[in-house]
Amino acid sequence: MHLRTEDLTHSFARMIGPYTVAFLAVLVALVLRVLIHPIVDGTGSESSTFMAYTTFMVATAFSAWFLGRGPALLTIVLGLVVGDFLFSPPAFTLSMFSRRELAETTTYRVACAAFFLVGIAKQKRATVLRQKNLEIEQANFRLREMSVHLMRAQDEERRKIARELHDSVGQHLGAINMVLSPLVDPADLPANALASVGEAVEISRTCANEVRTISHLLYPPLLEEMGLPAAVRWYTEGFASRSGIKVQLDVPDELDRFGPDIEIALFRILQESLTNVHRHSGSRTARVALGANAREVWLEVKDQGKGMKQRNGSGVGTRGMQERIKELTGQLHVASSDSGTTVKAVVPLDARITPQRK
Ligand SMILES: Nc1ncnc2c1ncn2[C@@H]1O[C@H](COP(=O)(O)OP(=O)(O)O)[C@@H](O)[C@H]1O
Ligand SMILES: [Mg+2]
Repeated sequence: MHLRTEDLTHSFARMIGPYTVAFLAVLVALVLRVLIHPIVDGTGSESSTFMAYTTFMVATAFSAWFLGRGPALLTIVLGLVVGDFLFSPPAFTLSMFSRRELAETTTYRVACAAFFLVGIAKQKRATVLRQKNLEIEQANFRLREMSVHLMRAQDEERRKIARELHDSVGQHLGAINMVLSPLVDPADLPANALASVGEAVEISRTCANEVRTISHLLYPPLLEEMGLPAAVRWYTEGFASRSGIKVQLDVPDELDRFGPDIEIALFRILQESLTNVHRHSGSRTARVALGANAREVWLEVKDQGKGMKQRNGSGVGTRGMQERIKELTGQLHVASSDSGTTVKAVVPLDARITPQRK
C-alpha cells in the first residue's frame, strides 16, 4: 500500500513536473520582459507595443523543445495573455484581437506554431529512438536467453554422446574383452576358443556399425558425398525404423547441389523437425518433401499429430531453425492446428554464400 502511494506520487510528479517548469519559464520570460521594458517601451506610439511577446516566445521555444506538447501549449497561452495584459497598450486590458495588434499577435502565434511543430517532431523522433532502443534491448535479451539455451543444448548433446559411447561402444568392447581374455594363455586354450573368436568378431562388427551410426548422425558424410536428396532419404529411413513412425518420402532422385551452407541447414532442419514429430506430435505418420526450382529450394516436414500448444513453438529447436534460415535469407513457415503441424523451410538459391561470410 505504501509502495502504491509512492508510485502514484511519483507518476503525479512526473506528469506535473514539466508544467511547473513551463510555468517557471513564463515567469522568467516575464522578468526578462520587465527588465528590458525601459529599452523597448517607447512613448506610447505604435512602436511601444513592439516586443510585448518576444521573451515569451523564447519560453515557448524552450518548452516545445524540452517539455512536450502540453507544457508548450500552456506557455503559448500564458505568454499571449500576460504579454497582452501587461505590455501591449492599452495596459491592463486584453486587446489581442484588436486590428492594431493583429500583426504582432499573428507573428507571435505563427512563431509559436513553428516552435510547437518543431517540438512535436523532436518528441516523435525521441519516441522512435526510445522504441528502437527498447527493441535492441529486447533483441539482446533474447540473444542472451538463446545463448544460455544453446549452452544447455550443447551440454545435453555431450551427455547424450557420452551415454551413447558408454552404453554402446563401451559395452561391446567390454564384451569382446570378456570373450577374448581366456584366450591369452596359449598353453591353456579352452576347447571353445574358436567359437569365442567368432563371437568376438561378431561383437566387433556390431560395435563398428554402431560407431558408424553415431558418427553419421553427428555429421552425415552422405551429405557431402552424395548430396541432400540421398542424405534426406537415408536419415528419414533410419528415423522411421528407429521411431516406428511411417514416413512418406517425396524426394526427387536428382537435384542440383546447393552448396554446403544450404545443404547442412536443411539437413539440420529435417533432423529437428522429425525429432519434434517423434517427441511432441504423437503422430504415427509423417511426410517429408524436398524440392527446388530455379530460384529456391524447400524442405517440408508434415505430421498428422496433435499440433503445437503455442503457435510457432518457443523452444530452442524452433529458434535454432529460424536462425539458420534467417542467415540464408530464407523463410521458415510453421503451421499448426489440432490436426497436425507443418514446418516448411524455403531458401533462395542466391543464398549459397551467407550474408555474414560475404
Ligand atoms: N510437430 C510438433 N507437434 C506438436 N508440438 C510441437 C511440434 N513441434 C514442436 N512442438 C511444440 O513446440 C515446442 C517447441 O519446440 P522446439 O523449439 O523444437 O523445442 P523442444 O523440442 O526443445 O521442446 C515443443 O515443446 C512442443 O510443445
Ligand atoms: Mg525440438
